[in-house]
Amino acid sequence: MTAPLLPMESEAEQPADLHRDVEAVLVSQQQIAEKVAELAAKIDADYAGREIVLVGVLKGAVMVMADLARALTIPVSMEFMAVSSYGSATSSSGVVRILKDLDRDIADCHVLVVEDIIDSGLTLSWLLRNLRARHPASVEVVAMLRKPEAAQVQVPVAYMGFDIPSVFVVGYGLDYAQRYRGLPYVGTLRPEVYST
Ligand code: PRP
Repeated sequence: MTAPLLPMESEAEQPADLHRDVEAVLVSQQQIAEKVAELAAKIDADYAGREIVLVGVLKGAVMVMADLARALTIPVSMEFMAVSSYGSATSSSGVVRILKDLDRDIADCHVLVVEDIIDSGLTLSWLLRNLRARHPASVEVVAMLRKPEAAQVQVPVAYMGFDIPSVFVVGYGLDYAQRYRGLPYVGTLRPEVYST
């Protein structure tokens, strides 16, 4: 009998502990895949004949960025920004510091900001003002998740994935203490994970 390319042991080993920490799956891997395809088709149609600059906001957006860039058929370039909000570590203050800026000028370019999650909306609100000041041809937003109940400021999102309840979630780019970003779905953590 031929050995499988990926033995079950090695498939299960690495993420097993992380999966066990998950209490409930809010958005499944399949739902994410279908949503990425749906959003990419809309973006392809809306920007047909044009080129866009995807601006991913580190670190959470890396998964959406990677999946979206592969699903789009229009030409895209990929840029990343890293920002940090002053104040509390768990909620945005709306005052943002740029830790890593774009590598290029975006004047006259069609920019699509890629976010994993919109919580209070303060980060994105600040970022959109910052990017618009660079005189792009257009700026729109694609976000995989949004917590409508947590919104402190309304941000226009052209391409929205899923609205979720205002609970702490991990996976698909989202972390708790820098862990769980690699989970292929979005879920909540068991309460005991926070207390250890
Ligand atoms: C998250 C997320 C957004 C921001 C949303 O990033 O990626 O950028 O928070 O929150 P807001 O709507 O309340 O402003 P985070 O600061 O957790 O950094 P990370 O992506 O590196 O984990």
